[in-house]
Amino acid sequence: MTTTHNAVPPAHGEGPSTHGEGPSAHGEGPSTKRVGSAPATGDLDLAERFGADELQAKQLERLQWTLRHAYANVPFYTKKFDEAGVHPDDCTSLGDLAKFPYTTKYDLRDNYPFGMFAVEQQQVRRIHASSGTTGKPTVVGYTQDDLDVWSAVMARSIRAAGGRPGHKVHVSYGYGLFTGGLGAHYGAETLGCTVIPASGGMTARQVQLINDFRPEVIMVTPSYMLTLLDEFERQGIDPRTSSLRVGIFGAEPWTEQLRTELEERADLHAVDIYGLSEVMGPGVAQECVETKDGLHVWEDHFYPEIIDPIDENVLAEGEVGELLFTSLTKQALPIIRYRTRDLSRLLPGTARPAFRRMEKITGRSDDMIILRGVNVFPTQIEEIVLRTDGLAPHFRLVLSQKNRVDQMTVRVEAQDDTPAARRPVAAAELIARIKDGVGVTVQVDVVDPDTLERSVGKLRRVLDQRKDG
Ligand code: DLL
Repeated sequence: MTTTHNAVPPAHGEGPSTHGEGPSAHGEGPSTKRVGSAPATGDLDLAERFGADELQAKQLERLQWTLRHAYANVPFYTKKFDEAGVHPDDCTSLGDLAKFPYTTKYDLRDNYPFGMFAVEQQQVRRIHASSGTTGKPTVVGYTQDDLDVWSAVMARSIRAAGGRPGHKVHVSYGYGLFTGGLGAHYGAETLGCTVIPASGGMTARQVQLINDFRPEVIMVTPSYMLTLLDEFERQGIDPRTSSLRVGIFGAEPWTEQLRTELEERADLHAVDIYGLSEVMGPGVAQECVETKDGLHVWEDHFYPEIIDPIDENVLAEGEVGELLFTSLTKQALPIIRYRTRDLSRLLPGTARPAFRRMEKITGRSDDMIILRGVNVFPTQIEEIVLRTDGLAPHFRLVLSQKNRVDQMTVRVEAQDDTPAARRPVAAAELIARIKDGVGVTVQVDVVDPDTLERSVGKLRRVLDQRKDG
């Protein structure tokens, strides 16, 4: 393998500025906790202030570097490009990227563990891996420069969410091979925050820490935030009185309805963060607190495309399809046109005009349930459950088979104060609304409060019992 040591992408210097507002005194009462504040322009990274032309010039330069780096140092890419009859020199505009082949999760698995790395092992400072449900984990690596970029984009994300230097950040994403905990951790430190590395689990203690340490920001999966809110209430504490002002929620799909629920129950800003280990980890895209209108993709480091997952053509801005990413500055694991399986669409930038937004993810193509021919996403069911009186936001979708016909049961908890007589009414309402809104007939099983297993990280919504008959 021809390894280019010290392969350095074009300068990506600009870290987030760590000066600026200290912990802002947003008043005492719960009603003033939610002040949506855009960062001062002077506190933004240079790239966040780019015009479109400036951004595109930077992207092209970095894309050309990435293609050359991958082709020269990763035999997998050399072979893939040669087979497709393309060469890095063929990329003279951003549109030329469409000529290059895709990369999938299977490619990473086939090259397990380090076959996709483009630098010598001694230059790799850290390894993460995502477990997946079957087979080998997907392994990713970072050089020191990669870790610095990751910290910088995470710091940028936390600031876009409303975090500021001096804030305390409670991190409940899992630490370990999962990228959530350490990614959030280094980003918060880089921004100049005080990190509380709680990781996932030990829920009662997390609530105690939040009460005693009084963090302004929490970073956690939305499903584990629900678990934490229930625990607050179990301890007799109104979560609205907590110190938390901003929740940075991601790693799994969640809906606008859940945003409303979380904001109202905890009196904080709930904003979305997106990322995946193959592309970096959290911090690929972030929702800005002042607009809450989808996630700005940090396009100076990650180049997004949307394709039709069936015919694989690139789709225009505004059209829904599968999201692809190409890394623009990564050294250890350059990734070209990675197929995320996540479904979204690209929209023009708002709070950061040069960066495009990706719409909140509706689901993954492999999360989609095909029930008697109808496509169903768990997020569609979440929206409807949250609109139905008497039901808690805790539910599972259980798939089974009867006489060779697929059935889906929505197993959902009643709220604590739901009278027994209300349960069948709520169940009937849910069945009717799902039939109406999604087009499928389901069974509904309203169970007692606190009986479904709680999430401490990423939630598994779907229980597929079809193989067991
Ligand atoms: O989940 C990275 C992450 C950690 C993102 C913490 C945000 C916060 P993976 O374990 O590799 O990495 O899983 C990536 O999770 O392809 C999506 O399907 C899903 N995902 C991540 N963020 C979101 C989000 C991390 N905001 C996979 N909305 C991705 C919906 C998300 N799905």
